[in-house]
Formats: sequence, structure tokens, C-alpha cells
Amino acid sequence: MIRLCVNVDHIATIRQARRAQEPDPVQAAMLVELAGASGITVHLREDRRHAQDRDVELLRRLVKTKLNLEMAATEEMIGIALAVKPEMATLVPERREELTTEGGLDVHGHVDEMGRIVRRLREGGIAVSLFIDPEHDQLAAAARAGADFVELHTGSYGEAREQKAQQAELARLIQSATTGRTLGLRINAGHGLDYRNVGPVAAIPEVEELSIGHSIVARAVLVGLEQAVREMLAAMGTGH
Ligand code: PXP
Repeated sequence: MIRLCVNVDHIATIRQARRAQEPDPVQAAMLVELAGASGITVHLREDRRHAQDRDVELLRRLVKTKLNLEMAATEEMIGIALAVKPEMATLVPERREELTTEGGLDVHGHVDEMGRIVRRLREGGIAVSLFIDPEHDQLAAAARAGADFVELHTGSYGEAREQKAQQAELARLIQSATTGRTLGLRINAGHGLDYRNVGPVAAIPEVEELSIGHSIVARAVLVGLEQAVREMLAAMGTGH
């Protein structure tokens, strides 16, 4: 059955808005687990704009499901990942000026370099996922780089307003999931998924896990975090 990994960065974003102690993404992660999610995602950015090193260290000690560390492929982050040892590292492109992760990684243009980074993390006992656009060249490169997983970027699907455009984006995701499996990759997906658009992506048989942050935290402000997680699990068709 498809799993939900909840991204707790936006809890930290609220805290950092006041440079305060609360709300605590680590406490939030405990509630997310109680509500039935299968994992916690946290993105430690180079500029530390939301999650802090302390959050990652505490999450490592307290998360009982699975910790997915989202990170740029930099020496600093590789060092942190190898010390913290999350179950999975998801490599993402990172630009200081962006509001959130914008495009997928260009694995195709940097296969050898990505392959070396994937190997170092895997030798540290960490499963590696590469966040890529749903494109054949990127999938083939991710397989060549030795990744365990790819996370298919669902941002274009999430942004599509017209039904026709949304169907076309969904078709790309379905095709990419099939191609990825054929190449020996395991498939996750995420970015821009919400309560209304998640169903068809959750129904793609090859997709194992969805990483969702903003829509859950946005709803949590109004209905509470546990209810927001349970409603997302229901929207995914997991029967919770
Ligand atoms: N997956 C990746 C790789 C991301 O960078 C993000 C955003 O941090 C997400 C999933 C979650 O996206 P959203 O907050 O839009 O649900």
C-alpha cells in the first residue's frame, strides 16, 4: 500500500518567522507518526531557513518510522547525512533565491558526479533517492548513477489548472513510473500534492511513497495536525 512521508519543514518555517522555540517540528513529527504516516521528511537547507541542525539530530533520535533527509548534493550535507544516518537521503537541487524546490535534479548532465555521491551515501547505509522531473533521460541517468529510488517531481501536475493539462501531466507521471521500474528504480513522488489532486498519483501502482508538506501543514493550522494527516491518508485511498 502507498505510504505517506510528511515534510515538517513548514512547521519550522513558522518557528523561524519569529526566531522562536515554537512550533517545534520535532513535536509535530511525533503527532504525524501517531496519525499514521509512514515517515518524516525534513529538508536541511544550506541557508537553514527552516529546519535547523538541532531538528535533524532530534528527529534522528525520536522518529520511529523512517527519516528522509532532503538535501543538496554538497560536501557539507553529505557529511551531515553520513553522521546522522537517515534511512533515506533525497537529493534535490537548491538555489538560495527560490521559495521552494523548483525543478528536478539534472542527473543526466552530471551522471558521474551523482554516481560518486550516491555511492558514498549508500556505503554509509543510506538509501538514496534522486528528485527528478518525470523525463526519460533523467530516469535513465538516475539508474546509471546507482540510485535506489527516484522521487518524481509532481509540481507540473499540481500546477496544471485545466483538466486536459492535468491529464497530460498525469500521463507523464504514469509513463515515468513504468519506465523507472523497468530500469530497476523504486519510485516515490512529491511536490505540490494536495487533498484534491493526490488521488490519481497515489493510485499509480509503481509509486511507493508520497512526500507531502505544504498542503498538510496548511490544513493543520485550521483542523489540527493529526486530523490533517488522517484526511490526507484518506485522500490517498489508504483506508485510514
Ligand atoms: N519533495 C521534495 C523533493 C520537495 O523539495 C518538497 C518541498 O520541500 C516536497 C516533496 C513537498 O512539497 P510540498 O510542500 O509542495 O508538499
